[in-house]
Amino acid sequence: MKLGVNIDHIATLRNARGGAEPNLARAAEIALKEDVFALTMHLREDRRHIKDSDLYEVKKLGAKINLEMAATTEILQIALDLSPYSVCLVPEKRQEITTEGGLDVSSQKEYLKEFIKPLKERGILVSLFIDADLNQVQSASDIKADYIELHTGSFSNAFDKKEYNSELNKLITASIEAQKLGLKVNAGHGLNYQNVYLMKQIPNLSELNIGHSIISRSVFTGLKQAIREMNELIN
Ligand code: PXP
Repeated sequence: MKLGVNIDHIATLRNARGGAEPNLARAAEIALKEDVFALTMHLREDRRHIKDSDLYEVKKLGAKINLEMAATTEILQIALDLSPYSVCLVPEKRQEITTEGGLDVSSQKEYLKEFIKPLKERGILVSLFIDADLNQVQSASDIKADYIELHTGSFSNAFDKKEYNSELNKLITASIEAQKLGLKVNAGHGLNYQNVYLMKQIPNLSELNIGHSIISRSVFTGLKQAIREMNELIN
């Protein structure tokens, strides 16, 4: 299984002060020296974390970008210009803290089929972020997406309550069905150092996209060093 690292959370921290620190390109450079398959970046309509210029800076570093985006014409133009390795279409609500549910592909099949055409023509792989729902899996196949990304948010929430079996089984069933239909399968959202081992029970997973838990952990793996360096400077 390959790891995609979602670096939006670095941008959220940077934007809290409105300056340049922590530097997103520097974070991308560090990630790219590790065994990381792709960097996931969500260009939101309101630009609340990733900015347009971030995408181009990270692309310049030679990163494979997995661009998360809503299916809007404004972001489509940017995606076509940027030409990332892949795009992952997600639903987007202004007020949400993070992506809440999967994309409803079934109710907008015709729109999405047309929407992804120029991306595919440009050679950009298209993924759809969906709940583990067989109807959505079938719809993703009908519109000829390359990948689905299974939303693991419900599984992660259930894991915290120690009641995750039915959510895990839904992910397993959806992944098996997707593979039968010729779709590649990624997964992500809410995965962390405690629950990620269960992803090995899901057959055919290509990539896991993980952000919040990695960035959160890096605070603690780096805090001691950061305090020491500051103390050296002031003493
Ligand atoms: N995949 C998708 C489509 C997402 O929207 C997110 C959250 O931005 C992630 C993966 C990563 O989720 P987390 O930050 O909880 O690891």
